[in-house]
Amino acid sequence: MTVHQMVIRNGKIATAADVFTCDIGITNGKIVALGENLDGDEVIDATGKIVLPGGVDAHLHLDQPTGDGSVMADDFHTGTRSAACGGTTTVIPFACQQKGDTIRNAVNDYHTRAEGRAVVDYAFHLIVTETTDQVLGQELPALIEEGYTSFKIYMTYDALKLNDREILEVLSVARRDGAMAMIHAENTDCIAWLTDKLEQAGQTAPHFHGASRPQIVEREATHRAISLAELVDVPVLIVHVSGQAAIEQIRWAQNRGFRVYAETCPQYLFLTADDMEADNFEGAKCICSPPPRDKESQQDVWRGIENGTFQVFSSDHAPFRFDDPKGKKIGGTKADFKSIPNGVPGVETRLPLLFSEGVVKGRIDLRRFVELTAANPARIYGLYPRKGTIAVGADADIAIWDPHRTVEITNDILHHNVDYTPYQGIEVQGWPTTVLSRGTYVVKDGEYCGTEGHGKFLKCEKPDPAKPKGMGRMI
Ligand code: URP
Ligand code: ZN
Ligand code: ZN
Repeated sequence: MTVHQMVIRNGKIATAADVFTCDIGITNGKIVALGENLDGDEVIDATGKIVLPGGVDAHLHLDQPTGDGSVMADDFHTGTRSAACGGTTTVIPFACQQKGDTIRNAVNDYHTRAEGRAVVDYAFHLIVTETTDQVLGQELPALIEEGYTSFKIYMTYDALKLNDREILEVLSVARRDGAMAMIHAENTDCIAWLTDKLEQAGQTAPHFHGASRPQIVEREATHRAISLAELVDVPVLIVHVSGQAAIEQIRWAQNRGFRVYAETCPQYLFLTADDMEADNFEGAKCICSPPPRDKESQQDVWRGIENGTFQVFSSDHAPFRFDDPKGKKIGGTKADFKSIPNGVPGVETRLPLLFSEGVVKGRIDLRRFVELTAANPARIYGLYPRKGTIAVGADADIAIWDPHRTVEITNDILHHNVDYTPYQGIEVQGWPTTVLSRGTYVVKDGEYCGTEGHGKFLKCEKPDPAKPKGMGRMI
């Protein structure tokens, strides 16, 4: 009888397709057998536990250069350590082209930042900020062939944004060469106009960030992004959707048969605009874009998670320390909201929050949980079935959850390098207690035990979900 290097026994296994009970045989970092009474040199008894594919966090920012002098608190080591401790075994952060520079340089620089640092495996999305002939004609096609098969397009932020014509050009490359386009959809001119009006009225405290980016701004840009994609006939994924106005546009497109995918994040389920009103500049901790909305919006986002509007649930971990002149306080504690770095940390809390409020409370089942947090992101970004599932031939990236363990989220139990969590004090039920990356422990019995440099770069395939429908609208 074959003796595997490791066997996980008696666990309730869930994939995006099924929930079943069997043993998992692991050898050389791969799942090599699913069956009964498997033999292993090492046996993990998962009785009473839930065995899930390691999470795939397809939207987070690690050690990403910024344009305003702020510095991200998490690099590839601390960010992936934190990911692993929250049950995530694959991360896809962003290699961001600096305006005036090439994407190739951004990719090379990002490899230097990641090499030898990551605890779990990683791939890169690209961020395209300039659409020169070199970018469109040479760099993007070459990089796509080399395994960088997704890129993000910004409709706002001066240092990052593309105009509609440029977006069409980039979407055309995605269509021709088979990449997945992700779009940050907010109307930049509306934001600039509203920001000026708020400043003129002296309304510059952190919570006015929300007023500068109301839902209509996101709705308009979401509709425009969908229309541009329809014109080119290419699938797109709208990232970090915050509420009903954008959801309606996405639903409208999906009902018409367009390949429009959508992502949401914990901040739109667990935070509201009120959290940006906290005293002593503390509201800055919850500033992100699009901003958190209201209680009703949280329910709208839940409904989108339940009814299939959303395909992906990511953290959008954007790690800026609060009490730090290179973090949220880069402009001081009286700073205008527009100079506060955007983003909230959440790579470690993403899965426990959704598990507790989603699965334990009965809003979604385990299969949908795996679909949103592991299988779909792996599929949509060309990593499936190597990542995102439990199947023979897949990498042995596995998170064993104790579904009964209750944890009060506080910053001191987390493994990121940020000095706060926006989810401080929330009690969750369910936590990953053992996590394997390619068959190697990164968390054992609730304790982090990963190794810096264990994580490897992943080349992504051209994703099937990026294929155009061929509706004949392409010129
Ligand atoms: O506010 C956010 N989400 N910051 C991170 C950057 C981005 O746009 O995703
Ligand atoms: Zn964004
Ligand atoms: Zn982001």
